[in-house]
Amino acid sequence: MKILSGIQPSGTIHIGNYFGMIKPLLSFQDKGEVFCFLADYHSMTSLFDAKKRKENSMEAATTLLACGLDPLKTTFFKQSDVPQVTELAWMLSTVTPMGLLERCHSYKDKTSKGVSANHGLFAYPVLMAADILIYQSNLVPVGKDQMQHLEVARDIAVKFNAAYGDVFTLPEPYIQEQVAIVPGTDGQKMSKSHGNTLEVFGDEKLLKKSIMSIVMDSRPVAAPKPDADKNTAFQLLKLVAPTDIAEEAENELREGYLGYGALKGMLLEHCTNYFAKSRELYLDLKKNQDYVEAILQDGAAKASCTAQFTMKSVRKSVGL
Ligand code: ADP
Ligand code: TRP
Repeated sequence: MKILSGIQPSGTIHIGNYFGMIKPLLSFQDKGEVFCFLADYHSMTSLFDAKKRKENSMEAATTLLACGLDPLKTTFFKQSDVPQVTELAWMLSTVTPMGLLERCHSYKDKTSKGVSANHGLFAYPVLMAADILIYQSNLVPVGKDQMQHLEVARDIAVKFNAAYGDVFTLPEPYIQEQVAIVPGTDGQKMSKSHGNTLEVFGDEKLLKKSIMSIVMDSRPVAAPKPDADKNTAFQLLKLVAPTDIAEEAENELREGYLGYGALKGMLLEHCTNYFAKSRELYLDLKKNQDYVEAILQDGAAKASCTAQFTMKSVRKSVGL
């Protein structure tokens, strides 16, 4: 089984990325052939700073390795190091109905937030389909916001196969319900573009400030809170704290024994503890960026082999 996912190097990795995509992807490292890449071509649709793209790519690579990506088990590479994917994207675009892309809400969301309405942004799901199909991926772990893009990838594969024969494996999304949408400090989906993130390896002072800024209601400590499970700080605590501690916190919130200040304190403590070991590795890797670069080069060589193999049969199937 082939399992693949990617992340855009468009900002610092946050715990929504970690629990929504990174952790689920890495959980497959002993179960199948895992591919993980930095979607730097995709980042060109909304980031126009070359230096930042390079920095973000190294930062994301370092973060993923520190989070447990094992380069001996996972093919880890930069999307742009396998340029065949853009050739496939072109081929796929010729069987992609305009209506399919016009229905994509991510394009509408991004342009409504001020991202320029360029063709790359509109055609984003086609390149994403190429990413998935060129490695003949079976399973794609992502957060819920990417669900529609996966449906598009599948639809495109069906169209291509109908036109040219059974060329592509049909991919399935892998979305875990309990982490499908990790909330940010404002209660909305945590996202780099919303400024509501808790960074995985961010500055500890900033983490504290972000946690303290989590929006809460004004009920006093002693007020019973039967809706404790809807509380953003509690939802985040559940991700990083051991189960018994999270359960106890939930009961205390429900019964009116746990104030919001104390809850935020617990979140800070458990968030720091959860990533403490990985943070050590992160700091080591930060001092050893040549090693990170070498891993990406090695991954690119492996990914290229698979991509070239697929492209050989794709080119033949379309009569090129
Ligand atoms: P962002 O929204 O911060 O720009 P990306 O689009 O780069 O994040 O997402 C990278 C991966 O992380 C995708 O698989 C996405 O679905 C997942 N992801 C991002 N934010 C969240 C979240 N808040 N909850 C769950 N998964 C998320
Ligand atoms: N669109 C994804 C995101 O913003 C990144 C991505 C690009 C991706 N290509 C992919 C994810 C292929 C999974 C599979 O997070």
